[in-house]
Amino acid sequence: MQTFTTIHTLQATLNDWRSKGLKIAFVPTMGGLHDGHLSLVESAKQKADKVVVSIFVNPTQFGKGEDFDKYPNTLKQDKSLLVQHQVDGLFTPDAEQIYPTGFDSDIEVGEIANILCGASRPGHFQGVVQVVKRLFDIVKPNVAVFGQKDYQQLLIIQKMAMQFSPNVEIVSHPMLREDDGLAMSTRNQYLSVDERKTAPNLYKALLQIKQGFLKNQSVDTLKKQAQEMLKQEFKLDYIEVLDANTLKQITDNTSKIAILCAVFIGSTRLIDNIIFNKG
Ligand code: PAJ
Repeated sequence: MQTFTTIHTLQATLNDWRSKGLKIAFVPTMGGLHDGHLSLVESAKQKADKVVVSIFVNPTQFGKGEDFDKYPNTLKQDKSLLVQHQVDGLFTPDAEQIYPTGFDSDIEVGEIANILCGASRPGHFQGVVQVVKRLFDIVKPNVAVFGQKDYQQLLIIQKMAMQFSPNVEIVSHPMLREDDGLAMSTRNQYLSVDERKTAPNLYKALLQIKQGFLKNQSVDTLKKQAQEMLKQEFKLDYIEVLDANTLKQITDNTSKIAILCAVFIGSTRLIDNIIFNKG
């Protein structure tokens, strides 16, 4: 695996691969890699000849008082995992490479960026879209793989790419969970032993809503029940049952449902979701 810290050296190699007719798949990350990230790498390998992973903890997607300063940095271990998974190129730029002095970009992604996680974390998705667009412009991949763990992010990136990076095919990959159901996340490292035991109850609450929904129980009642259940162990940010394609209210035309949730356990923010066909 070749590691690049500058755009210049990365692009020299990418140009060489492209000149040989090789297809490039890209997996952007913020590091602190776990099996969820590595499943995206495996999916990327199926889609192209060369796989490039980026590790960049993007300052513009963190709000004031969030965990930017303490975000896990496990670069040495990340590198060895990526070598084991036969990644071809790792891009680890510093902030000056991504946001050089005078860099300016303001991409409008619309209302979908201001609801759910966007409402609780103002500016978060603007930061995500800014960095992903910048990374796409640098890497110019044929394919880029994103996880359904961050379902709202995935839809926003699909929208951004359609408009601003139409040559990049966006592939969505299913979410990986721990054996007890907890969604794999870099932030799970923050959990104390007791919090880690409690955390899988989030997924249980989502499953309960899904079961009720499939039995035609009212969405409002199901949401209220889940809120009551979650409030006992978490500080609830939101729980919503929406049309999975639009993240708007369910209508008669809805074919796919998204149950989406964000909670705090202690000071750690966890998100989870279940996506399923209406049946
Ligand atoms: P990060 O949280 O490191 O996630 C990188 C990618 O891994 C995202 O596409 C995310 O959805 C996926 N991922 C995380 N946990 C997963 C899981 N349990 N199963 C499957 N995929 C999972 O998301 C970001 O970084 C950043 O916002 C980024 C897109 C890199 C922009 O900075």
